[in-house]
Amino acid sequence: MQKNIVLLPGDGIGPAVTEAAASVLQQVADIFSHNFIFTSKMVGGAAIDTLGEPLPADTLQACKDTDAILLGAVGGPKWDQQPPQLRPEKGLLQLRKGLGLFANLRPVKTFPSLLASSPLKQEIVAGSDLLIVRELTGGLYFGLPSERRDNGQTVVDTLHYEKSEIERIVETGFQSAMLRDKRLASVDKANVLESSKLWREIVDEKSKDYPEVSVEHMLVDSTAMKLITNPTYFDVIVTENLFGDILSDEASVLTGSLGLLPSASLREDQLGLYEPVHGSAPDIAGKDIANPLGAILSAAMLLRYSFEMEREAIAVEAAVDDVLQSGYGTQDMQVNPERIVGTQEMTSLVIEQLTAA
Ligand code: NAI
Ligand code: MG
Repeated sequence: MQKNIVLLPGDGIGPAVTEAAASVLQQVADIFSHNFIFTSKMVGGAAIDTLGEPLPADTLQACKDTDAILLGAVGGPKWDQQPPQLRPEKGLLQLRKGLGLFANLRPVKTFPSLLASSPLKQEIVAGSDLLIVRELTGGLYFGLPSERRDNGQTVVDTLHYEKSEIERIVETGFQSAMLRDKRLASVDKANVLESSKLWREIVDEKSKDYPEVSVEHMLVDSTAMKLITNPTYFDVIVTENLFGDILSDEASVLTGSLGLLPSASLREDQLGLYEPVHGSAPDIAGKDIANPLGAILSAAMLLRYSFEMEREAIAVEAAVDDVLQSGYGTQDMQVNPERIVGTQEMTSLVIEQLTAA
């Protein structure tokens, strides 16, 4: 199959981890006889420095015209003092908005060789493998009015959702569950919030279309507890913007290593933006020590969600599993010091495993 991929390396360690993920995708193309055409575009601080804005029109257009986008990270101290319009992060926000990406997917999986890195007890986190599906463009973060009144004596934020916005994210939740263990936890606060009551009705209605998926309604407060007391309980969690923001950051500490967490931002068609959860890590940029696995696992998500190449996605994930199982890690992971490798060597190990499998 022929597919176009736009690469947005960005800043700091972004270029190194994006290159790593692109080379893994190229290997997938070679093994499975696909033709992936890569185009690199500017975003973030790199785009500000050369073109004067964090999301050049040419970059946005290329992203609109492609099949999938792989992003490294943006930002760094160099641009921290810039006005808001000239901040690298602005480029990412404009990109998500410009493409209408409304669903954020954050898988969290613990690897046996890394259990010691988790802040939780090993027997609690062992075997955790969950996916949080978060609504990204509605709810409390975007509802109007959002303002101070009465000389600051009153504040108002608005939790606004259109029924159609809830329907589409719930649909993404069910579809994601179908690709996994078919267990969906719909998380809300329906004992208090009107938006959550509608959310529940929509989930119940939609569940008729997905008889194979077992659905459970859970309140967000008890979900927050269960995530750290019994994370293996979960398969897919679907929730609104604010709850998803908090729960996905809570879940991200389970693995003990920020460097290996991937993410996807999706819309109704196949186009998606894939990026590691971590930032541009300016403290370690240019040293060939950044962990490329978050970006590589993001590339696996790209294969799964934008290209519907489940077999290829599983092959990449299995290769990462095997490399970690052999005890290898980058310097951010708690592994045997003799098995610590750099960005490029880690990438080569994954590619070797892919080829061998
Ligand atoms: P960060 O995620 O860049 O780094 C936090 C810590 O984790 C640092 O010690 C870093 O060295 C380490 N780390 C991160 N990724 C790693 C990797 N792949 N391998 C090994 N170690 C890794 O977060 P921080 O320091 O808060 O932000 C740095 C810059 O990144 C800021 O300008 C921030 O705005 C930006 N940022 C960008 C994001 C994005 O592009 N999506 C997300 C988060 C932050
Ligand atoms: Mg957050």
